[in-house]
Amino acid sequence: MKRTYFPGITDIVAVTDPAEIRTISNDSRFDRDFLGHGPVRNVQFLRKILRIFSLNGRLFQTILPRTDPSRAAAQEELWSRLNVKADEVKHGPAQVQPLAEWVRGIGTADRLDLLVQQSIGRLFVESFAATDESLGAARMVLEAVSSSNVLKMLWWRISGRLERAKTLLASMVNGDLTAVNAMITARQLIVDGLHKMRQLAADPALRSSITTDAAVDECLFAPAAVFRKAKTSGEVAGCPFGRGSLFILELGSASRGAVNRDLVFLSQSWSHCPAEKWVPALLEGVWTRVSATLHES
Ligand code: HEM
Repeated sequence: MKRTYFPGITDIVAVTDPAEIRTISNDSRFDRDFLGHGPVRNVQFLRKILRIFSLNGRLFQTILPRTDPSRAAAQEELWSRLNVKADEVKHGPAQVQPLAEWVRGIGTADRLDLLVQQSIGRLFVESFAATDESLGAARMVLEAVSSSNVLKMLWWRISGRLERAKTLLASMVNGDLTAVNAMITARQLIVDGLHKMRQLAADPALRSSITTDAAVDECLFAPAAVFRKAKTSGEVAGCPFGRGSLFILELGSASRGAVNRDLVFLSQSWSHCPAEKWVPALLEGVWTRVSATLHES
């Protein structure tokens, strides 16, 4: 754990150790209650997150506090609904054929991105059809999360472009902000996974020796990081912290070892991902279909 602390200016703790990430993600002193006062840099950063991951004052579920009155029920409802879909998709039904074709080497990176956004959108609206505009909108919002181009970001903000991008996405999924969020962030993680799968499929020796479970695992990517804010001051794993300290849980690197794969979806945390079964099932379905056609040829 590494704390960067200048009183009143910044108080940020980077957490890379898998065990410490589990501890913090389950310690009730840390939450996603990102509103309120704190060191200037912390407040600036969290305001940006709140602005990007919200629409018309409504926050996306991934940044709602643990105790938000509707969060846990929505998480449970989506988890159950996606698990039914996971059982269907893992056998590689015809609906994953376009993704399988892409993995076999047919199509551009943009085509994959459209297909993945469409697969996510269809979890919420059966007839959802991704377009160049919806993809552009999702990419724009994602770029805003990590961009350090202050002028461009200011322009996107004051011109209303960011809000319009999110509004467009919301209009395609009956205003469901969980769908909007997934089409922005989860889309990229699944796209990264399928790029990896294309590489695996292109290697005949590897393709025939690797198990399906191992192939799926190779293609699962965690978000680079998730955030928590300290509700009180105290100490955790030997690191002192103040009220308002921002903890950056670096899942991307921490989830790499075989024993730390629970961190990909934070499966042991109250905030566990409702798509923790559906995403691996989708990858399994695609791999199964790819393997079947490549064995035939
Ligand atoms: C590779 C794909 C994905 C990965 C690696 C992933 C990972 C995660 C992680 C690590 C969290 C915990 C966030 C935190 O603790 O602050 C999370 C939460 C969440 N994810 Fe995913 N996710 C993926 C795909 C999806 C998809 C496709 C959906 C929706 C269809 C989804 C919906 C959610 C929601 C709603 C939450 C918030 C749960 C809550 O705290 O109530 N995720 N995800």
